[in-house]
Amino acid sequence: MDPLFSPVRLGEISLAHRVVMAPLTRLRVNRPGKAPDALNALYYGQRASQGGLIITEATDTSPHAAGYPGSPGIYTAAQIAGWRLVTEAVHAKGGLIFCQIWHTGRVSHPSLQPDGLAPFAPSAIAAPGMHMDRDGQPAPFPVPRELDADHIAAIVADFAAATAAAHQAGFDGVEVHGANSYLIDQFLQTASNQRTDRYGGSIENRARFLLEVVDAVAAVRGGGRVGVRLSPFGKTNGMADADGAAMWDHVVAQLGLRSLAYLHLVEPRADQRSDVNALDPQAPDAAERFKPIFGGPIIAAGGFEPGTAREAIASRRADAIAFGRSFIANPDLPERIRTNAAFNAYDRTTFYGGDARGYVDYPFL
Ligand code: FNR
Repeated sequence: MDPLFSPVRLGEISLAHRVVMAPLTRLRVNRPGKAPDALNALYYGQRASQGGLIITEATDTSPHAAGYPGSPGIYTAAQIAGWRLVTEAVHAKGGLIFCQIWHTGRVSHPSLQPDGLAPFAPSAIAAPGMHMDRDGQPAPFPVPRELDADHIAAIVADFAAATAAAHQAGFDGVEVHGANSYLIDQFLQTASNQRTDRYGGSIENRARFLLEVVDAVAAVRGGGRVGVRLSPFGKTNGMADADGAAMWDHVVAQLGLRSLAYLHLVEPRADQRSDVNALDPQAPDAAERFKPIFGGPIIAAGGFEPGTAREAIASRRADAIAFGRSFIANPDLPERIRTNAAFNAYDRTTFYGGDARGYVDYPFL
């Protein structure tokens, strides 16, 4: 029996197979108001499969959470109505869909903020290098504004409200985006968190924001419909930690106490910006390291191909595998994997922004 095509239970949800669509920012919600529409519903509906799980692109939990032009939101009635088109298209094919919810923190730009000022982050430390402005033009990362405790509490409440909104929109659950250098990751790691209050300093303090968000979200929807995504040892946008091994072990152990649907790990070997799959063979295997510490279901992502995915399931390092770039180019990816069919090649130039081209026009088998 093909290990990828055996059923699996993740908390409150049951999947017929283990080929998950990874969260993929496509920057195609370019209307004012950041509400998905029929084009976005077509895209997600194409990628739905009977008993398969889709995780949406990262979705803003508030206007201040935004870090990119064309990413969707889930904090207005129009956004909820737009997402309902998406969830209905996925459910019509028997699929399941979680909404990935985020706050981008310092990975933003004043032109993307509702007040035109610098974005908010744990500490006033700019990420190195270049980002983009509201027109998608290259712009240096700004020095962010340091969050005060009241604002931190408000952001936790925004995550809870986004979870309620996602429920209203018909989502089967939510995934808290704690990976890839965004706000939660910025709190976790010392490179971006130099706070001296209860949200900074010790590992326990730096983990506090993530755990407050997760507890608030789980209180709304139940932990069995909540996943968390982390990128342990990830270095995106200048992320680094003084003692990553101890910090990630603590964070994963704390999450393991919370009966969540799953922990979704971005493998540190993966580099989504290149076209190579196993860039760093020396990097630790996150699924292998953290599965026993977490204790619950693990979704692994990053540079998987059908063979390595089957091996990861068969060896019980992971319970499901998320595919990113190959799901962009192959709307029927689970069926192609099941039948050992060839994949369409992806076109990196249409990953971010634009229109239907490179979005809903990849051919089915
Ligand atoms: C991503 N990735 C990503 N991750 C995430 O947590 N939220 C997101 O919104 C996005 N957006 C995104 C857009 C694009 C165009 C790419 C290529 C990647 C990371 C993604 O989920 C996945 O971890 C990586 O693509 C690695 O998996 P693959 O592509 O090697 O299967």
